Amino acid sequence: MRQSRPGDLEDLYRICLLTADAGDDATRLYSDPQLPGHIWAAPYAIFEPSLAFVAEDTEGVGGYVLAAFDTVAFERRLEEEWWPGLRSRYAEPSAEMPQGMSEAERHARHLIHHPWRADRDVIGGYPSHLHIDLLPKMQGRGVGRRLIETLAAALRGKGSRGLHLFVGSRNQRAQGFYRHVGFTELPVSDVHIFVMDFTS
Ligand SMILES: CC(C)(COP(=O)(O)OP(=O)(O)OC[C@H]1O[C@@H](n2cnc3c(N)ncnc32)[C@H](O)[C@@H]1OP(=O)(O)O)[C@@H](O)C(=O)NCCC(=O)NCCS
Repeated sequence: MRQSRPGDLEDLYRICLLTADAGDDATRLYSDPQLPGHIWAAPYAIFEPSLAFVAEDTEGVGGYVLAAFDTVAFERRLEEEWWPGLRSRYAEPSAEMPQGMSEAERHARHLIHHPWRADRDVIGGYPSHLHIDLLPKMQGRGVGRRLIETLAAALRGKGSRGLHLFVGSRNQRAQGFYRHVGFTELPVSDVHIFVMDFTS
């Protein structure tokens, strides 16, 4: 396990794609294999490199945890420096777009034009947020726990009050993992938000 370097970016894009369908391979869902990584991986490694950690085996990088220290500041920075370039490359989904375009790709394109804005109530107590993904060969061996522990220590060291993340309802496995490694689920109905408090 080590801090991410600029040369890891291609691996981060690849791992993101291979885990973007509720934890499974999403290759068939996207016309451009970089699309999920543009949203859920690359900007974190580029703009918050001190909070980007990767796990390696003999074949190279096979997993990562990525985070934003201050979600509001991160959203603002992406609005200025990240989304504009992508908006000109990826058109907003419309009724005229190809019939075959997957729901996942429509959603990703929508997010580029209308980025996710984290709930301000959640951010109040848990201003940092994360994404974690491991290739199947790296799962179930304690790597996810070690990545979370490494990130949590880094965030505490920088003075974060707390950490949140969103999980899709289909990804039951990740929900079980988060519960098991110390997150608490917030009582909201439509999405699954897990949090970790660093103030106590
Ligand atoms: C979810 C994920 C990050 C978990 O990482 P992992 O390396 O497979 O998990 P670990 O082996 O570190 O498990 C850590 C602990 O959680 C437990 N655990 C893992 N999954 C669990 C589950 N579904 N329910 C209960 N406990 C679980 C393990 O038994 C282990 O317990 P222990 O440390 O007490 O022995 C990883 O499987 C993954 O990347 N999946 C695909 C992508 C994904 O879904 N990402 C999350 C998107 S929100």
